[in-house]
Amino acid sequence: RKYTIPYEELGAEKLSELINAFYSRVAKHPLLIPIFPEDLTETIRKQIQFQTQYLGGPNLFSEEHGHPMMRARHMHFKITPDRAQAWLECMAEAMDEVGLDGKFREVYYKRLVMTAHHMVNAPNDEE
Ligand code: HEM
Repeated sequence: RKYTIPYEELGAEKLSELINAFYSRVAKHPLLIPIFPEDLTETIRKQIQFQTQYLGGPNLFSEEHGHPMMRARHMHFKITPDRAQAWLECMAEAMDEVGLDGKFREVYYKRLVMTAHHMVNAPNDEE
């Protein structure tokens, strides 16, 4: 079976829908609101650039912003295990909303789980 680039399988339009659906949830999540800017326009734009290259499409993020160094770029924020979970929940719901399913969704989501866990840089807050 021929190998298809995930970015091509998903398509630019679907990716844009996914990332917009994702950030509408981030904007409402009590654990995520405090660390994200109020205006998510630029965040959405950068995330679409990043996911494009993460899925094997053109290197839009690196061309404009340099090496991704994603963990380093997240060091300014307290990324706790609970926040990583919240991020992933917003993503799973966004995937439901735009109708991603099957093997594609499974593989993409698993990869995001690994990346999200890699981003964790602080323990959960004490209750
Ligand atoms: C930027 C939080 C996981 C990719 C950001 C920003 C925050 C954040 C607060 C800054 C937003 C802004 O100022 O515009 C989190 C949290 C995560 C997480 C809580 C939970 C684990 C991820 C993952 C990816 C990712 C898994 C990629 C697969 C990005 C990108 C940016 C970003 C591309 C823009 C970087 C830039 O400004 O140059 N994230 N993030 N993040 N995040 Fe995350």
